[in-house]
Formats: sequence, structure tokens, C-alpha cells
Amino acid sequence: MALVVTNIKPLIGSEIKTDLETLLSGAAAETIRKTLDERGVVVFHDLNISDEQQLAIAKTLGTPLKEGGGDDGVYKISLDARVNDKADYLRGSLYWHIDGSTQEKPYLGTMLRPVKLSETGGQTEFCNTYAAYDDLPEEDKKAIANLRVVHSMERSLWFLYPEPSSEQIEAWQKIPAKSCPLVWTHKSGRKSLLIGATADYIEGMSPEESRKLLVRLREFATQPKYVYRHEWKLGDMVIWSNTGAMHRAIAYPVDSGRLMIRTTLAGEESLH
Ligand code: OGA
Ligand code: MN
Repeated sequence: MALVVTNIKPLIGSEIKTDLETLLSGAAAETIRKTLDERGVVVFHDLNISDEQQLAIAKTLGTPLKEGGGDDGVYKISLDARVNDKADYLRGSLYWHIDGSTQEKPYLGTMLRPVKLSETGGQTEFCNTYAAYDDLPEEDKKAIANLRVVHSMERSLWFLYPEPSSEQIEAWQKIPAKSCPLVWTHKSGRKSLLIGATADYIEGMSPEESRKLLVRLREFATQPKYVYRHEWKLGDMVIWSNTGAMHRAIAYPVDSGRLMIRTTLAGEESLH
């Protein structure tokens, strides 16, 4: 079957229409990867795939990660601790973020498909951090060109536990933080912003100035023109770029039963 790519919004999101056989064969992989890089998020409707098929498609696109808990490249996303023992941490998905920002190679991208939807909330939003960078005023681009931002899991965990114990902080700080360029110049030469919930502070800046700048950049990058909100339907699959987009889930009740299956693709480009 032919493969049809349709843009969803001018600055973010494309829908790809093709059949399952084409996806499983890998014949669409190059187009998907290119579209992902250019558009931040790729949407498929009416695919109705199984876990095995999701993993098989992932293998045509890159290297699926084993995320623990005995998964084989398909990981359950739920806020219910009976379904995922890390459910409490997954509440972090409700804030704009990049997955794996503290890794040497931030993940390439992530595939997500719903198994059960919440009756309220539970949409997923994406914003294009290439497009947002491109549109920054020249003086901002100049001012941030050489800044470094420290990303840490600790920073994002403060969102979830505003009054942690000393033991909690100690455990969080064992996860190594990472100093990254605030502006990521990719191999392609294109530039994106490295911000989000794990962005802790700008090196060499006062705490107040650093917080102000990170909030201002997040506000800029998440203006509606850079954002696509996906309204899930059963049968969908979405792939997002983790190198040129941020994402977040819209709040949904813990007991809604919402269950998504995630496959994360290993990073391919180092970030120093
Ligand atoms: C994730 C994530 C968003 C969602 O799995 O990394 O951020 O809508 N998920 O569940
Ligand atoms: Mn995420």
C-alpha cells in the first residue's frame, strides 16, 4: 500500500497512513524516521496492533530498550501501583519533559499505544523544540548560545514530592545529573532546546535568573503553535521524537484504568 504523510499542524505533527504489512516489513522505516525528526510526532490511526507487533515495528526503526520489570521492550504505563510498581514516579509524565535527558545519548524516540483509555483527561501533548528554537528572537539566541544546563532526576522528583525526607533526597542524588548544552546542535546542524522538568539550573547563573530563564524558555516552547495535543482512540499508535520534542500527559484519575504500552528507542546521538 502506498504511504501517505499528512501534516497535522504547520509546525508539529504528521499522520502517516499505511498498512500493517508495510510497517512490519520496515519499508516505511526511513520515511517514519525522517518525519519524526522533521515533525516531532507521528500519528497512526486504526492500527490495532499487539505488543509483539509494536516491538517488531520498533525493531525496524531502531533499538528498543528493555525498561525493566521483566518487559521485553514493551513497558506498561499506568499511574496505578498495582499495574506498575513505579507508578508513583510516572506522575512525572504530567509535566513537560524529555525522556532520558540525563543519559549520555538521550533516547531517540518513543512509541505509545493505548490499551485502555481514561474517560477524562489522559491526552498526550507534544511540542516542537526545534521550531521553538528557530523562532527565538536573535538576541535570545545569542544570549543562550553557550549556556549549559544541568539536568537531574532530582529536579523532576521535586514536582512529585514537594516535602521529601533526607533519605529520599539522598536516593535521588545518587542518580547522576548531567551537564548539557541548553541549545543542542544536532549532527544535522539543526538546533533544539534542552529544557523540561529535569532542567535543574543554568551553570554560572544566579538561582533566580536561572529559574526565570528556564521558565521563560518553557513558556516560549509550549505556545499553542508549537504544540500538538493527541486525543487518543483505541487502535492508535503515536511515535514521538525525544531529541526534538518535549511531551506530557494531561492529568487523568489514578483509578481510571488508563493503560498505555510504551516502547522506547535507544538514543543514537551523544550529547556533551
Ligand atoms: C512516557 C510519557 C505520556 C502519557 O511514557 O514517557 O511521558 O501520555 N507518557 O502517558
Ligand atoms: Mn515521558
